[in-house]
Amino acid sequence: MHLAKTISEVRALRKQFGGSWGLVPTMGALHEGHLSLVQRARAENDHVAVSIFVNPTQFAPGGDFDKYPRTLERDLQRLEPHGVDLVFAPANEEMYPPDFQTYVNVEEITKPLEGAKRPGHFRGVATVVTKLFHIVQPDRAYFGQKDAQQVAVIQQMVRDLNIPVEIVVGETVREADGLAMSSRNAYLSPDERRAATILYRALCAARDAFQRGERDGETLRVVMRQVLTQEPRAVVEYVSAADPLTLQELDVVQDHVLVSMAVRIGTTRLIDNFLL
Ligand code: PAJ
Repeated sequence: MHLAKTISEVRALRKQFGGSWGLVPTMGALHEGHLSLVQRARAENDHVAVSIFVNPTQFAPGGDFDKYPRTLERDLQRLEPHGVDLVFAPANEEMYPPDFQTYVNVEEITKPLEGAKRPGHFRGVATVVTKLFHIVQPDRAYFGQKDAQQVAVIQQMVRDLNIPVEIVVGETVREADGLAMSSRNAYLSPDERRAATILYRALCAARDAFQRGERDGETLRVVMRQVLTQEPRAVVEYVSAADPLTLQELDVVQDHVLVSMAVRIGTTRLIDNFLL
């Protein structure tokens, strides 16, 4: 497993090793969700690269950029058994030199949901992911369904900009009680951690209603809100039942629906979703 801190090191390695490459972009603080993407990449490619970079451009000013967990030594240990060929862990200046001034803006699909609550977030994501694609030049890149809008944004961007990479989506990995794994779960106090299962329970209620035949979008949103109000620590940012491709809210579900939510528990912002 090579650890590269510079773009030129990655380019040199990439030239040395032919065959297909899979890339798993991450911000580190690796958990089983990340590792499931690494395993999938390992199974489907000759070589695997993992990037670990807490990308400043996708955090809001005053957001959790400074306190975001940075655990490179532990991350490397966790990756070691998974047959990763290359870990790219650049410094900020390597990715964003002082004269940096080019950004990637994906338009309509970044407007609702996370985009509405986190202005500029997807501009930062699209920009860094484009840079990572150009640096590593993977055949396939692996993203988690946990961040459903991120997946939709990256897929749109790859289509629009004709980037020659296949986007592979991995299922959300959960704790035993249903909480979606997230690096931000580390911020939760024990009481908040117990309260955080409310997101999963709200999604399950929507899934149950859907399976009983409920196809009214607003009713699905109400079902989720009703569960969320049972947890006094939960402050809802949004609850959505949207078209999985356009992310527009649905009045009536034709075949598939993305039910999703953003909820604050204390100062920690959590998101989760089911694709029904
Ligand atoms: P990060 O939050 O570190 O997540 C890296 C990848 O792991 C993302 O594709 C995310 O969807 C996936 N992931 C996170 N939790 C997961 C879970 N419980 N189950 C399955 N997959 C999960 O997402 C980012 O970083 C950044 O925005 C990035 C794409 C790296 C750009 O900076």
